[in-house]
Amino acid sequence: MTYAGLAVDDGWLRTIVARRTIEAEDIVSLALDPGGPDALPTFEAGAHIEIALPNGVIRPYSLCNAPCDVLSYQIAVLLEREGRGGSRAAHELAEGQTLLVRPPRNFFPLAADGHSLLIAGGIGLTPLLAMAETLAGAGRGFDFHVCARNRRRAAFAQRLETAPFAARTHWHFDDGPAEQKFEVAAVLASAPADARLYVCGPQGFMDHVLTAARACGWPESRLHYEYFSAAPIVSDGDRAFQLLLARSNRIIEVPAGVTAAEAMTAAGVEPPLSCEQGVCGTCLLPVLEGLPDHRDHFQSATERAANGRFAVCCSRALTPRLTIDF
Ligand code: FES
Repeated sequence: MTYAGLAVDDGWLRTIVARRTIEAEDIVSLALDPGGPDALPTFEAGAHIEIALPNGVIRPYSLCNAPCDVLSYQIAVLLEREGRGGSRAAHELAEGQTLLVRPPRNFFPLAADGHSLLIAGGIGLTPLLAMAETLAGAGRGFDFHVCARNRRRAAFAQRLETAPFAARTHWHFDDGPAEQKFEVAAVLASAPADARLYVCGPQGFMDHVLTAARACGWPESRLHYEYFSAAPIVSDGDRAFQLLLARSNRIIEVPAGVTAAEAMTAAGVEPPLSCEQGVCGTCLLPVLEGLPDHRDHFQSATERAANGRFAVCCSRALTPRLTIDF
């Protein structure tokens, strides 16, 4: 079956846009109900779904409703005017429209132990909102810090201010008074010794928080993060390389300035793709030979050092040829 020019298989779920709500300046939320008699698959906090948008692109969005609510999936989308069209297409969706989604996957799960320090930058609050609901429901300890440019851009403000965990939610606005400004060192220092950090937001924000945590001695095992978007990759100095697809023994030439995914698509090969920014992990393929030049933000430092997988949407090769299991 094809939808908007995309090949979609039986694994996709048919949903209906049941509600479209303006949550803040440039942010809409969508509640997606089942498009048939079957209930939607369950999910856990931190999970995301991928949506096939009417303009022919697939984009991942974190689920932000409480995981105990499987009657619908709720997502929120920030309009990125300079983006590549995914958020614009999502903003144009109307109530009643049918939407195909892939079932939830979770690369950002809550650990079973420890106090949870949830830190959100902008629209990065979506997976953390589901985590806050889960932790509150389970009676576990947590603090939720939400950073936004100003009140107009603070999504879900009313929901958070009336939630049972409102007292655990701390707002930080860039244009607010000094006493509420986000001071990462103070926030980290206020956490109990067993705390785990969960952070989500734009790359600059995440780098700021994670660098501070590492500098304060937080072990890597207590840092949990998911990049919401990545800064554009600097491609100056990129070199051409060959991608050998082991299963077909086919060589794809990847010129400088062209991603491996683009070269594969131009050659009539369809790699699995979603965010196309190196943040979601959808396009990771096993490496059989050669050395990748990792540019993704999805894999941990340990995974990158192991060179076991290669993100075709953004990574390149350090060797003239890279062989992947595809
Ligand atoms: Fe998301 Fe490559 S498509 S990491």
